[in-house]
Amino acid sequence: MIETLRFPGEAEWLDALTRDFRGRVEAAIAARGTAHVALSGGSTPKPFYERLNRETLPWKKIEWWLGDERWVPPNDAQSNEKMVYATLGRGRPDFSVRFHSWHSDADPAAAARAYESLMQRRIGNPPVLDLVLLGIGPDGHTASLFPGTRAVEEACCDTVANEVPQMNSTRLTVTFPLLNRAREVWFLVSGHDKEAIITRMLAGDTSLPAARVDAAQTRLYCRLG
Ligand code: 6PG
Repeated sequence: MIETLRFPGEAEWLDALTRDFRGRVEAAIAARGTAHVALSGGSTPKPFYERLNRETLPWKKIEWWLGDERWVPPNDAQSNEKMVYATLGRGRPDFSVRFHSWHSDADPAAAARAYESLMQRRIGNPPVLDLVLLGIGPDGHTASLFPGTRAVEEACCDTVANEVPQMNSTRLTVTFPLLNRAREVWFLVSGHDKEAIITRMLAGDTSLPAARVDAAQTRLYCRLG
């Protein structure tokens, strides 16, 4: 069951996300001492990351993960890691201490395996994330789980390297076993151009990878203005 929250403009959307984020991480910290948050890539979350960057949060008790990464150098304009450092981590010299990069190996499959092992060491085995932020693409992909790609059918590993022919790229991504084990998953969506795909997703069209996310609590934060 997905709880859908709609906001007329960016200000209301950001206020709600910031309020709810603070509550979520504080609850995780109260329960387990640390909050483990997986971030979304793409462009939609950038204003939210910039807002969080300015917030007084329990920064030393939050560990940051990335739900997916394009297999490019971390300083490449396409890199989600680069985007996160430029927004959420901007001006925070200790951000890298608690941000976990995918880039640990020259081979994407080995890097994906290493990321899962790191999650198991830092969070537990199997790892249960406190919050996962996701976006939705125009084809219904989420993270780098693109329709028709192998990672969508992955039922064992929590992280994999995924060949995405429609993007002519290799991606690293979390999989449904990890997403559906998370305590909360929030989709961040903006713009009327995503209305049709959201409608299909909420109707349960499981041809869309985003419709296959079914965590303990799943929310959709829609910004229409
Ligand atoms: C990525 C994201 C991807 C993104 C969607 C939506 O690496 O690009 O993980 O899943 O969230 O493509 O992207 P926008 O927010 O830019 O529309």
